[in-house]
Amino acid sequence: MKSIRTQFGKLQCFYPYTVALVGARVGDRLNFMTCAWHTALSTSPPLFGVLIGRTKLTHGLIAEAREFTVNFLGYERVKLSALMGRRSGAVMDKIKESAVSLLPARFIQTPIIAEAYASMECRLVEVKPLGDHDLFAGEVLAIHEDPGSFDADGLLNAVKTKPLLYLGTDFYITIDPETLKRVVPD
Ligand SMILES: Cc1cc2nc3c(=O)[nH]c(=O)nc-3n(C[C@H](O)[C@H](O)[C@H](O)COP(=O)(O)O)c2cc1C
Repeated sequence: MKSIRTQFGKLQCFYPYTVALVGARVGDRLNFMTCAWHTALSTSPPLFGVLIGRTKLTHGLIAEAREFTVNFLGYERVKLSALMGRRSGAVMDKIKESAVSLLPARFIQTPIIAEAYASMECRLVEVKPLGDHDLFAGEVLAIHEDPGSFDADGLLNAVKTKPLLYLGTDFYITIDPETLKRVVPD
């Protein structure tokens, strides 16, 4: 028999999710935070969404900058995820503390994170309030990828790149490339 819950402290039965650092710059103020609640929204036009709690510093920065970058981390960057996701830029400079390296974006003012294996530059097109989070929907203007991280079809090279996956609470895991299968219907 399955157990049934109707009270939820946390919504995490759908994890693991890939971990991204989402950031925005307003003038000299630049900050990134860890984000697991993110999703593709459309391919044409290319739209990507991030769900950000209203109390986060990053929320106000994206709303004001009207742009953001989304930076996907490999498993070896787990400490960066923990710092960016358990400390607020309102009380410390997370970029200085983590000594993360920044690279200029092509079309927007917010930089990307060099340590990420893939980064997206997004221009904000819509903000949708949903419960205690806001969905920031951005048009994807450019994607930066580490060489060899993806094949010619854009498929992740799971031998080279072990994506950092969030299991919930403060637990992380990654994928086993030996389980890779290509399956098509009969
Ligand atoms: C693995 C992980 C995933 C997270 N995902 C989200 C998320 O999707 N949305 C969100 O609002 N906060 C998320 N958080 C919490 C924020 O990253 C955290 O509150 C952070 O300190 C906010 O930073 P800021 O105040 O500098 O913007 C996550 C934290 C962790 C550790």
